[in-house]
Amino acid sequence: MSDMRVLVTGGAGFIGSEIVRTLRSAGHEAVVLDALLPSAHGTTPSSPGNGLITADVRDRDAVDRALYGVDVVCHQAAMVGLGKDFADAPDYVGCNDLGTAVLLAAMAAAGVRSLVLAGSMVVYGEGRYDCRRHGPVRPGPRAEADLAAGRFEPHCPSCGTELVPGLVGEDAAMDPRNVYATTKLTQEHLASSWARATGGRAVSLRYHNVYGPGMPRDTPYAGVASFFRSALARGDSPRVFEDGGQRRDFIHVRDVAAANAVAARAVAGLGPGSFAAYNTGSGQPRTIGEMAAALTSASGGPEPVITGEYRLGDVRHVTADSRRLRDELGWKPEVGFADGMAEFATAPLRETSAGVSA
Ligand SMILES: NC(=O)c1ccc[n+]([C@@H]2O[C@H](COP(=O)([O-])OP(=O)(O)OC[C@H]3O[C@@H](n4cnc5c(N)ncnc54)[C@H](O)[C@@H]3O)[C@@H](O)[C@H]2O)c1
Ligand SMILES: [Zn+2]
Repeated sequence: MSDMRVLVTGGAGFIGSEIVRTLRSAGHEAVVLDALLPSAHGTTPSSPGNGLITADVRDRDAVDRALYGVDVVCHQAAMVGLGKDFADAPDYVGCNDLGTAVLLAAMAAAGVRSLVLAGSMVVYGEGRYDCRRHGPVRPGPRAEADLAAGRFEPHCPSCGTELVPGLVGEDAAMDPRNVYATTKLTQEHLASSWARATGGRAVSLRYHNVYGPGMPRDTPYAGVASFFRSALARGDSPRVFEDGGQRRDFIHVRDVAAANAVAARAVAGLGPGSFAAYNTGSGQPRTIGEMAAALTSASGGPEPVITGEYRLGDVRHVTADSRRLRDELGWKPEVGFADGMAEFATAPLRETSAGVSA
């Protein structure tokens, strides 16, 4: 198949810039559009190199120009993080949802029919749980009294038994629990509506917890891997909340970039009007405590401290079943947990507005 010309929105960001590198090294052309948000880049962003159009995805004229000759759009631009308070909601909805709507309208006009969207596991809320007696159940948010008493595991709403965590499949019910999660789900609904209305094809890659070199240093959302990494760089112990038993799936940024390249190629082969979602995780759940230990041993830093602290609204376990992406698109992750964390323990992080890089 011939080379593609791909518009990567948010292509100056953590994941987008890795996608651009991956596409270019495979011989494709990447056009990069990024607003270089101060919250993501600080006030003096480093240039991601040639082909950058510094513009907002809500700027229709700039998007029209960027779409010239493009075969497929890889839409990574978004405001990430949980936001400090609800006052941030208009900014999230503006960047993420109005931005997606403007992009899709421009694609419709330009006849660009293929979209790969940066989705997220946050659309699921809590992960999948099974009760030994009642089968699959959906626990509500954990009660503060339980968390304060160190009872971190969710319990069955019917019988109170401690639940067994499982893997979330793509067809699980949607349960976005904050503004950011809501905007990520709306992006998918917009992409699906666009596909139906225009005969386009859209793939959402629902990323799990992405980590790797160039990760932003201190966004609240980039979260835990980057906090631990920064603590170790200062000579401090990583501070592990709850009891460290929270299960996640840590996926390396190079594997996420490879998934985007595979999806960008495959999306044109889907039926017109279709929308498909793929969990994008390593398939190997780990605990937050295991991650802290891996980073500590790789960096030779002080041992992690389990603090028992908690944040209301944090989910206990969420781990993806990423088999659909392997089975249908033939992608598989290449970077193992131990190797990836060892590299990440000393890799440079990216400066953000809140400080200098660690
Ligand atoms: N990092 C993760 O673990 C993770 C997990 C799930 C989903 N995602 C999604 O992946 C995508 C990339 O995230 P990231 O971690 O690389 O974050 P990032 O902040 O490093 O990158 C996002 C980029 O988008 C740009 N941007 C934001 N709003 C824009 C707008 N309106 N117009 C133009 N550019 C804009 C920013 O300047 C930034 O360069 C996002 O869509 C995010 O929701 C990330
Ligand atoms: Zn039960």
